[in-house]
Formats: sequence, C-alpha cells, structure tokens
Amino acid sequence: MPFFAQRLITWQRSHGRHDLPWQGQDAYRVWLSEIMLQQTQVATVIPYYRRFVASFPNIAALAAASEDEVLAHWSGLGYYARGRNLHKAARIIAERFNGVFPRKFEDIVELPGIGRSTAAAVCALAYHEHRAILDGNVKRVLARYCGIEGWGGEKKVEERLWQQAEALLPPGDVAIYTQALMDMGATVCVRSRPRCAACPVQADCVAVQTERTAELPTPRPKKAVPERSAVFLLLTHGNDILLEKRPGSGIWGGLWCPPQFDDEDAARDWFLRSGMEARGGERLEEFTHTFTHFRLHITPLKVELARKPLRAAEPGRVWLEVGEALGGAIPTPVRTLLNQLQTVRPEPVEGSPRSGVQPADSSGRSS
Ligand code: ADE
Repeated sequence: MPFFAQRLITWQRSHGRHDLPWQGQDAYRVWLSEIMLQQTQVATVIPYYRRFVASFPNIAALAAASEDEVLAHWSGLGYYARGRNLHKAARIIAERFNGVFPRKFEDIVELPGIGRSTAAAVCALAYHEHRAILDGNVKRVLARYCGIEGWGGEKKVEERLWQQAEALLPPGDVAIYTQALMDMGATVCVRSRPRCAACPVQADCVAVQTERTAELPTPRPKKAVPERSAVFLLLTHGNDILLEKRPGSGIWGGLWCPPQFDDEDAARDWFLRSGMEARGGERLEEFTHTFTHFRLHITPLKVELARKPLRAAEPGRVWLEVGEALGGAIPTPVRTLLNQLQTVRPEPVEGSPRSGVQPADSSGRSS
C-alpha cells in the first residue's frame, strides 16, 4: 500500500476518532451526518444528530414528517437548504427506492443536496466502496501534502485536487482511510498553526518541506462582504408573538420569523395599514448576524398590541406563545430575540387566556 494511505490508516487506529455516534451506522445515518457536518464542526453536530435520529429513526419516518418538523430539528444549525434537501431526498427515496437508501453511487449523487464528495463519503463509509472524497478538510490536507497552489473552489485547482485524491486512495480499508483523512484534517492539519509534529505524513509533505504550511492552502480571494439592514417587527400580546413562514428556498426559506422590512418606514406603513392597535412599543438594540456571503444588521421593533387579532389574518402567519416558538423552526437571530423577550416578562394582559393561541396556519407545525 502507498506510504500516504498506510501511514494514515495506522495513525487512525491509535489517534483517530472512534466514538462518533454515526460511525459504523447504516447509510441513512452516515448520509445524515455527512450533511450536518458540511460547514459545521463535529461538537456542534453531535446533539443535533442525536435529536434528529431519535425523532426520525429511519428514512420512512423522515419522509412522513412535515418540512416544518424537519426544520425545527435544524433550527440553529444554519444553512437550512441542507435540511430542506434532506427532507426532499428522503421523500424521493421513499417513493423510488422503497425507503431503502440507494446502494449505487450514480443514484445517490442524483439526490438533492448530495454532491460528488458526499455521495463518495457515504459509499466509502457505509458500503466500504473504493471512492475518493474531497471535502473542505481533505482539500486542505491534499493542498499541503502535494503542494497544490490556488484556491480550492476554482475549477482547475479542484480538478487537480480530485486527481490527487483518486491517486492516493488505497486498494482496501477505504472506510478507515476516509475517516483518517477527515480526522487528520480536523485535528492535526488544521487551518492555522497545524500540528505538523503529530502528523503521520509530515516526512514527505511538500508544504512542510518548502515551509509553506501557513500559505497553503491558498485562501479564497477576498471580496468585500456586502452589508444589508432589516427591521424585524416583533408584534406581541402578552406572551404571544406573531411569526410568519418564509417562503421558498431563500436563506431562511421554510423558517418562522417576525415580519421583516427594509426599514422602519416600511414597517410603520405596514403596521398602520394592518388595522392593529399598539399600546406600547420600543426599539430594541440593533445587532448583526453574519452569513457566509453578507452581514445583516437587524433593528428589532417591539410593538405590544392592545388586542390580539382573533386570527392571524393570513395563511402562513401564526400567533405563538414565545416558549412554544422557541421549539419551532426558527433561525438563530430570532431565537436570540425570543430569548430576550422571555427574560423580560411582560405584565399580564386582561382577557388573554393562554389557551387563546390561534394558529391561522394549518401546516401542522411541531413545537
Ligand atoms: N467531517 C465530515 N465528515 C465527517 C465524519 N464522518 N467524521 C468526522 N468529521 C467529518
């Protein structure tokens, strides 16, 4: 077996991770973990993974769930398209593959949200198939080990990295080798100040030999991150808040958020036209939420209503008790705001029984 793979496999047996909850599990669980681990660290993923498999123990259960229930389990993990695609894929598998995760790479890679590397990871880890992977961590390891320059998101560079990934693949022990690559990238060949002294392949690592571990991999070319601003209208009545479901496939598509506006004027116009009556209001502290491609400055306007409308007026809007909303499919900044509202207990409002929560929406959301 070639030096690189042999060293990695030996290293994995004594220094790799062996107790991750998805290791040695079926293809469904391996797939789920690979999706959750995209852009997200193991320590963050583990509690999400455990809750997810407890609620959706198999593909049939996931396919039978509503998108809302699935997104409630993704709330706080970010990159919500991952959750929406996972759910779509489960429904396709239920329909076309009898609920059994497909065995063939060609079928797996066709599913929504699964690219070449993720499909290969499932095949290698769950089916012990001879497949090379190339996720972010592996790109870093190979860029350094082989001395490949250029940003790994660029087509030409990516092609070279794939060639190396294929060339270094051992003839056997592919599952342990794949896990070794991932673990090495996550724990030794880390982005800043890699622990080269602990690396099993440092003896012939080009970056080490040429003293370029700090320069490789070449970072993504810097672009100014656009700044945007938005107003969140927190319409409350007692402990209840109005939330609306974001349509479609945007960053927060399918998630529940307070009505959002470009600025305070737009929020005020909307409120005046809504026919609702305020009995108090305040501007909460502005804060910033950073996405991969832009920064969003959020001004929360809290408006306490004199009366709660009997119904939420439009489908896709819902009045929820704040505690209940915290168990739903909400993005992180909304969670932060709701937590703030919960710690500042409003005075009780007359004629407002707790049981009066009136979802206008019938999409079967979970709490
Ligand atoms: N990152 C991506 N896939 C992983 C896995 N299976 N184990 C640990 N980290 C990972």
